[in-house]
Amino acid sequence: MILAANLKTNHTRHSVKEYLQAVTVFIQEEAIGAEAVIFPPATALRKGTSAVSIGAQNAYPVKSGSFTGEIGTEQLEEFELNTILIGHSERRHLLGESEAFIRQKFDFFAQQGYRIFFCIGEPIEVKEQGFEAVMAYIQTQLERIDLGYDNLVLAYEPVWAIGTGKTASSEDIAQVHSAIKKLCDKPLLYGGSAKPKNCAEILSIEGVDGLLIGTASWESKGFCDMLQITKTIDKD
Ligand code: 13P
Repeated sequence: MILAANLKTNHTRHSVKEYLQAVTVFIQEEAIGAEAVIFPPATALRKGTSAVSIGAQNAYPVKSGSFTGEIGTEQLEEFELNTILIGHSERRHLLGESEAFIRQKFDFFAQQGYRIFFCIGEPIEVKEQGFEAVMAYIQTQLERIDLGYDNLVLAYEPVWAIGTGKTASSEDIAQVHSAIKKLCDKPLLYGGSAKPKNCAEILSIEGVDGLLIGTASWESKGFCDMLQITKTIDKD
């Protein structure tokens, strides 16, 4: 089981250091078996610990070069990082990343052997058209992505559930996860308003291998509470 904290544009170098320390100690003291991954903002990237790995929320598909405002693998490798989030809906919709660019990023980071957390998920207007439309949308997002790539983790994050407090229903999650699993048998996380209150229910759904958490993970306590709950899930 994987629990990943997407800190988005929150936290500083100092607070991420404290966050990482708190989560590391918690995992060790509580003997948490679930895997923990933290995605801090770029300015607060740092090496992981024996209990927690660190990933980049974003990077440009280059080692280095003239890409103002971006970072490449040279900057990630300074912290011995080889995990990256690609295809997050905020980058797709707010930052305008195209399907073509997302594929380019996937191919580049896969070639470098990075562990890729690849996000997929439909906006509300697609959700309203029903399950078939949702799966057609997701299939387009997965087109020309190498689903056999060893170091791939998928995250299903319905766009309408992100940061809205509206979690997808267990039936919806079960249905979509089971359909995605037929396309790709890689670890599949759910993301979208996951929090301590609902995470036991979500994690118990067949086909859910973990969570990609935004808001509820921004304080280390929330993330630790969810890690603690993984101990009650009889899976794996
Ligand atoms: P929330 O948990 O705030 O809905 O965010 C989910 C997300 O975008 C994780 O990547």
